[in-house]
Amino acid sequence: MKCTVHASKHCVIGTADKRLFSSFVEQLGRCVYGGIYEKDHPLSDENGLRTDVMKLVKDLDVPMVRFPGGNYVSNHRWEDSVGPIEERPVRLDLAWKALDPNTFGIKEFMDWCQKVGTEPMMALNLGTRGIDEAKDLVEYCNHPGGTALSELRKSHGSEAPYDIKMWCLGNEMDGPWQVGHKTAEEYGRLASEVGKALKLYDPSLELVACGSSNSDMPTFPAWEETVLEHTWDIADYLSLHMYFRNDENDAETFLASSKRMDEFIETVVHVCDYVQAKKRSSKTMYLSFDEWNVWFHSNEQDKAEPDWKVGKHLLEDIYTFEDALVVGCLLNSLLKHCDRVKVACLAQLVNVIAPIMTEDGGPSWAQTIYWPFYYASKYGRGEVLDIRLDVPTYENHRYGEVPYADAVLIYHEEEQELDLFVVNRSLNEELTLNLDTVGFGQQLNLIEHIVLHHPDLKASNNMDNPDRIRPVQNKVEKDQYLAPKQSWNLLRFSLS
Ligand code: AHR
Repeated sequence: MKCTVHASKHCVIGTADKRLFSSFVEQLGRCVYGGIYEKDHPLSDENGLRTDVMKLVKDLDVPMVRFPGGNYVSNHRWEDSVGPIEERPVRLDLAWKALDPNTFGIKEFMDWCQKVGTEPMMALNLGTRGIDEAKDLVEYCNHPGGTALSELRKSHGSEAPYDIKMWCLGNEMDGPWQVGHKTAEEYGRLASEVGKALKLYDPSLELVACGSSNSDMPTFPAWEETVLEHTWDIADYLSLHMYFRNDENDAETFLASSKRMDEFIETVVHVCDYVQAKKRSSKTMYLSFDEWNVWFHSNEQDKAEPDWKVGKHLLEDIYTFEDALVVGCLLNSLLKHCDRVKVACLAQLVNVIAPIMTEDGGPSWAQTIYWPFYYASKYGRGEVLDIRLDVPTYENHRYGEVPYADAVLIYHEEEQELDLFVVNRSLNEELTLNLDTVGFGQQLNLIEHIVLHHPDLKASNNMDNPDRIRPVQNKVEKDQYLAPKQSWNLLRFSLS
């Protein structure tokens, strides 16, 4: 099957914000305890941070990490997670029916961020709490000194302020499962007052208002409209969350999931622009897709996990090769919408629906989905070109007409490099790729063709076989660029 990519360097969607390759660490299951933090692990440093996990995170080059939740944040008191560790209280976490020892708190997270070279994105509890607690947390984290809470931080061992720039105004407040769930009116009013207080302190803080938990919520997209009506002046971003599942165990349908992400983003953009028009505003509302991933494999096993303990084995999805192809398409979708989506967080980072897995006391390894994320993070940070694809399509009962190829093309002007990410959705045929770059007026020279491919869609990596699904260099003969059936590909070209 043939696939032609038509591109010109003058047709640009936008510059991909590096924060599109962000992730998420929630106080959930073994993401923190047994994941990034394991006191007695032989590879942990003096603070209990697993150095093997840090290495895998650093390799992913994650620019920002959302913390501490998620559903967790809506019943969490930040004050419990600071100060001498031995004095911190153990609490019930109602969101995940777990015990929260508060051993790994704000200081520990900030130290970890510094070690792995990432920025924090801090979520505020707007479920059980409000303006006072939010402004106190900002004072504790960001004020240099001379006030009660900034001095408290210093007495806890952090002399310099953390200077946290991005703040989420709650989490999934539209969801009935959320502790402190609210109507759009209730949430919109609260978020706008919390946002006002934070911006009175520091107008340069960047605030994310909660959008819908997914596009199937009965309140979507009226929720977005009401929330934006209230928060327009203080919000810089509106959040989107979406998880993808292979409900029908049908590869053609599952591989087309990114169409659902496209549609979600585009609908939210319309709502933002509608509110902008209503308000006669010149402001553009940007989007923060701060939770996305495949999530369904662990649903049944989670039901058997006993409650009220630390480090429950929750949401431990073991990802297949098929999931990696879907994640590749979802990354392409985020890149294609980089004019409006400025932040995106792969949910989550370690053990909990994550690219990185660990064994308690044992090794860590990269799941299948690690690889498309790794390469998108490395080569996706450039100008995303507005390409036209000439490729056959298939008809799908859920998604209509689906192109067999899903692609994005990234232009790196300084390096004079073009990087093409392509997923071949065909289960039967390879794709012959042809790049029509007349608009560049330059010659293309292939640097490398990296391919992720496996004959078995259900194959996965595990502790004993961590490299079963791993990208390899594809041999290119006679300038023929071939993407194998059911494969993810990155073709890097230099321009001369
Ligand atoms: O990422 C897991 C959970 O999914 C988060 O806690 C919540 O925000 C979402 O429903």
